Amino acid sequence: YPSVLRHLLLTSAHLCPLFPSSTGSQAEPQFVFVNLLMNWSSAQTYCRNNFIDLATVKSDTDNQNVQSQVPSTYHPWIGLFRDPNFHWSDGTGVVFTSWDSVMNPLGSMTVICGVTSSARSGNWKFLPCETKLPFVCYGPPGECFSFFLLLRGVF
Ligand SMILES: *[C@@H]1O[C@H](CO)[C@@H](O)[C@H](O)[C@H]1NC(C)=O
Repeated sequence: YPSVLRHLLLTSAHLCPLFPSSTGSQAEPQFVFVNLLMNWSSAQTYCRNNFIDLATVKSDTDNQNVQSQVPSTYHPWIGLFRDPNFHWSDGTGVVFTSWDSVMNPLGSMTVICGVTSSARSGNWKFLPCETKLPFVCYGPPGECFSFFLLLRGVF
């Protein structure tokens, strides 16, 4: 999107949670599994153009919500990367973690990117960032998500 429209879309989407929700729950992002094969940076661009960003997993609830979108046997990209510090694509600090039994550092590779695996209880590991994989994006929370998709369709 042109940056002005993108800004407008995201602003409306972010404002939406301020209005009282039927459940009254804390706004949780809507995760979306995208079954297209892309390297990590192309997946990031796709998520930023179509949703908000690659998935940021901040809690066990987020992790379960991500897994509920991922068909079994897939291990899609999430927004995690290491360069050599850990980051989320959207700038959120990496506090909650869900490493697989071995957090494979992939030898001497400096930049590596994170996948989650539904077959491994939503645990994360790293792969070379140029690997082409499906991925998980996130959009605005709950009931705001359809509003977001509607606006996106208008522009
Ligand atoms: C990712 O894929 C894009 C498009 O095919 C390519 O231009 C880019 O160099 C790739 N990046 C990496 C890190 O592999």
